[in-house]
Amino acid sequence: MARFNDGAAMTSVVQFTRTYLDSILAEERLIDAVEPDLSMDLWGEKFASPIMTPAFSHLKTFASERENGMCEYSSAAAQMNQVNWVGMMKNEEYAEIAETGARTIRIIKPYADHDEIYSRIEFAESHDAFAVGMDIDHIFGDNGRYDICVGEQMANKSMEDIKKFVEFTKLPYVIKGVLSVQDALKCADAGVSGIVVSHHHGRMPFAMPPLMVLPEILKALGPDRQMRVFVDCGIDSGYDAFKALALGADAVSAGRVLFKGLIGGGTEGVKAQLEEMNTQLRQMMAYTGCSDLSKMDASILHIPSCY
Ligand SMILES: Cc1cc2nc3c(=O)[nH]c(=O)nc-3n(C[C@H](O)[C@H](O)[C@H](O)COP(=O)(O)O)c2cc1C
Repeated sequence: MARFNDGAAMTSVVQFTRTYLDSILAEERLIDAVEPDLSMDLWGEKFASPIMTPAFSHLKTFASERENGMCEYSSAAAQMNQVNWVGMMKNEEYAEIAETGARTIRIIKPYADHDEIYSRIEFAESHDAFAVGMDIDHIFGDNGRYDICVGEQMANKSMEDIKKFVEFTKLPYVIKGVLSVQDALKCADAGVSGIVVSHHHGRMPFAMPPLMVLPEILKALGPDRQMRVFVDCGIDSGYDAFKALALGADAVSAGRVLFKGLIGGGTEGVKAQLEEMNTQLRQMMAYTGCSDLSKMDASILHIPSCY
């Protein structure tokens, strides 16, 4: 789909993320295996699957064929009982998302003006959001200066800032765009409830595939971690989701792959795609003897030693 102006560096990050994901193989464990249960518990609520929608935004531009793509995919998540994410938007647009009844995690940009951040958090709280958070990989633009995103000025965020956001909200607070052990540990210290291991579709040249750094992050956080660890970028199928979950992710977000269903069929199209991904995940869990998400672990996977 030629709707994104990917630079060469971004393209190579995305391609290597794809190559790395495809290189991961799984063994079969069939004896004693039963039909798997895909359900996921997250922050006290139960969902049908660990596959979530992406934190999209600006679909009037990027999926202009749809009148209101944001609400359409959010409705799909609501009807499938899968966690929904949304990205940059004004409060009025968030109110429409809330109407869909989706359990939505609202990602708020790292605005320079913290009053903007607090007002969006408060609005999300008053509209029954599931969680709120920030995509820290939008602090900088591709010129190495603080980003200006759709005319809005972004700025750096310190540990102290993040602690304040965590303390401000009564909702779980998520940091999206963690791609190092160092940032993951800082998030844990700041009391963050969840991180998304992500390079945001290659915002930084030569960024590691999220699944390459995920095991190191989980090891550093340790077995008693409170923080949930999610993954996105290149999760294009239930097979990709399976690999991320077996490597220790608590849940994953599909991304641009959902444009196919959304543009072709709106809510029903996204539902069909989520269903297909759930089926692929179920197949992999069945063949590898994982009766539920808690049974998945990295020993099922084989990653080529060249990595
Ligand atoms: C049209 C579009 C808008 C996006 N807007 C946001 C956003 O506002 N906030 C955010 O955190 N991520 C945003 N993302 C990034 C996605 O949440 C996700 O990280 C990315 O799509 C994952 O990569 P993939 O598409 O290769 O799977 C956006 C992605 C797209 C395609």
